[in-house]
Amino acid sequence: MLITQIKALVGVHPKETFVLHGDEMAQLPTLENAWLLLENGLIKDFGPMFTCPSSTENNQHETINAEGKYVFPSWCDSHSHVVFAASREEEFVMKIEGKGYEEIAAAGGGILNSANKLANASEEELFESARKRVVDMIKQGTAAIEIKSGYGLTFESELKMLRVIKRLKNELPIPVKATFLAAHTYPQVYKNDHQGYIDLIINEMLPAVAEEKLADYIDVFCERGFFSVEETDQILTAAAKFDLKPKIHANQLSVSGGVQIGVKHGAVSVDHLEETDDDVLKSLANNPTIATLLPSCSFYLNIPFANARGLMQNHAAIALATDYNPGSTPSGNMNFVVSLACIKLKMMPEEAINAATLNGAAAMELSKEMGSIAIGKRANLFITRTIPALAYLPYSFGQSQVETIILNGEIYNG
Ligand code: NIG
Ligand code: FE
Repeated sequence: MLITQIKALVGVHPKETFVLHGDEMAQLPTLENAWLLLENGLIKDFGPMFTCPSSTENNQHETINAEGKYVFPSWCDSHSHVVFAASREEEFVMKIEGKGYEEIAAAGGGILNSANKLANASEEELFESARKRVVDMIKQGTAAIEIKSGYGLTFESELKMLRVIKRLKNELPIPVKATFLAAHTYPQVYKNDHQGYIDLIINEMLPAVAEEKLADYIDVFCERGFFSVEETDQILTAAAKFDLKPKIHANQLSVSGGVQIGVKHGAVSVDHLEETDDDVLKSLANNPTIATLLPSCSFYLNIPFANARGLMQNHAAIALATDYNPGSTPSGNMNFVVSLACIKLKMMPEEAINAATLNGAAAMELSKEMGSIAIGKRANLFITRTIPALAYLPYSFGQSQVETIILNGEIYNG
């Protein structure tokens, strides 16, 4: 496929650039008035229009005229919980009445509510509903996703979730990474026996997950009222023996110590970070662990927005993701995440777009194939509507400027 007359090709990073830290994030290389050639599912070549392959050569390829339009590398959503059995709009109403996230969880809502519902759902039902959610996300420009377990909380249900994610990996046309999050909360029966549940995770679940190769990463909700730093340390230490690197939930509701324990274990990313202090910022300075920020979670829960500028001033790498889940972020729209990052995290459009593409890919260890326009990378991209400028995309929040989706070099119609 040949795309011609492109107003600007966005994210033309050198092939060897895998992640951007601090002020590097402000650099979003673009090529104006460009062409792009896709072959065998990959980006084959691109250049300025005056070097475009001649019209006779063009005849060999399906050609798309993208005059006035931008071509972006697809969004890379590195944090989601899209496998769940039921929505939780009743909690939405409780929130409007003034109840907080922890209060709702303590009243039997929250993660335990989702776990009860998931226990009764079949693998087939879970697969089909999650697949539909991901298809909607693909139509909004996402073309790589990480998906967590964590609504199982028993041996059977955690494995059931991970098998659903494995099937999504096999059947969806985009890269999918699986994260094992049994340590999402303590199930009711282990309420007063935390060590008992940790032992179950370490001695029974982890070996089975590893045996069936069901996960790429380990996650723990390291948070006040959930898993302590010591408990997190124990789980991450055990997971390392199975080669599962951490991507953890840290500092969502309090300065929990989650960031530092994640960094200590060489986490690929520490996610949320709505609550930070100087020590947190310093622990991520010049560090390979990526800070994954989830502004649509802050927006929905009415909790603080993360200190993106402080992180960038400390030369940390920031990724942006949705956190799509039924409790804290019932939305998988990366366009909205990028808008919120600009509006609420005060990221510049270039910074936010880098965070949602190249750094999102890095937060799933997919930078070699996703996240930028580079020869040899997977041809997953989107063409915008006719828009006046790059910044128009985040500026026009709540409206999708994504017009054509290309996956593996072909137009995707869902
Ligand atoms: O990332 N914080 C923990 N996990 C999810 C919310 C889970 C839920 O409420 O169902 C999150 O926000
Ligand atoms: Fe999450």
